[in-house]
Amino acid sequence: MESLSRPSLFDFYGVCMTKYFTDNWDNIQNFKAGPDDIVLASYPKAGNTWVSYVLDLLYFGRTSPERQGSVPLHERVPFLEIQIPGFPSGVDALNELSTFPRIIKTHLPVQFLPKSFWEQNSKIIYVARNAKDTAVSYFHFDRMNKAQPEPGNWESFLQRFMEGKMVFGSWYEHVRGWWEKKQSSSNILYLFYEDLIEDIEQELGHICSFLGLSPTTELKKQVTEKVLFDNMKTNKMVNGSTDEVFDFKISPFMRKGRVGDWKNHFTVQQDEQFNEDYEKKMKNTDLLFRTVL
Ligand code: PPS
Repeated sequence: MESLSRPSLFDFYGVCMTKYFTDNWDNIQNFKAGPDDIVLASYPKAGNTWVSYVLDLLYFGRTSPERQGSVPLHERVPFLEIQIPGFPSGVDALNELSTFPRIIKTHLPVQFLPKSFWEQNSKIIYVARNAKDTAVSYFHFDRMNKAQPEPGNWESFLQRFMEGKMVFGSWYEHVRGWWEKKQSSSNILYLFYEDLIEDIEQELGHICSFLGLSPTTELKKQVTEKVLFDNMKTNKMVNGSTDEVFDFKISPFMRKGRVGDWKNHFTVQQDEQFNEDYEKKMKNTDLLFRTVL
């Protein structure tokens, strides 16, 4: 791996981004989707890895058990827009994928999704997580991921989160943009991290009926067991251990996996300021999040 420098944020068509997600822009925008592609979209730190693993197990847990122990999840579910020097780009990885259907990870805001996905009417699963836990998770992620901008301290990070000065832009615009699109698109399933935590079996049922899958009771049991936080945390193929840009001395990738960890980070004053700002940004939407269970 070439030595990576932490990138700076810049405005990219109205959304804060870094070079690692924009350098391959033309190839991303011209990506040729197939009708069977499944897109797994989310703002960063909403549970994309979790649902990726669910989907991978549903489609390939039975037919290709060997890949579970030998192919890292990020190779099984390539990240569309990533382009980090020294690694295959997400677009190349997707074009070379030999398994079918392709499960495609993205953090793109809705307006940036390549148009071929809409033309092909590909199925899209969007995962959303409450803003406070997302901000905390993102802070620790930026500390340990050398391909992300310097996070600074928690106080300044939270301020920038509220201002939308994060990679992939404003959380508020991201979750709202996809929510609004979902109202007119039957090919989008909108999931919440908090619901997954509360009842993974029920959410697995929603995912399967959306995708038209009828797994056996045994497979459903295997999936729910394998995707438990503690099991994923110790599974080297899904816990980020194979990802060279992570520094686990700073923080694990599978960190806490809870709803409400924000309470260990927000001061009373930060919470009040955040809530006031949140109400302004999230007024006029029926999109509701739970910050405690
Ligand atoms: S990324 O890097 O943006 O793709 O991150 P993403 O996978 O979307 O989100 C990472 C957070 O999801 C948590 N996670 C889980 N929580 C509960 N159960 C399971 N199985 C699970 N798998 C991943 C992960 O721990 C990150 O949240 P935090 O709060 O940091 O622990």
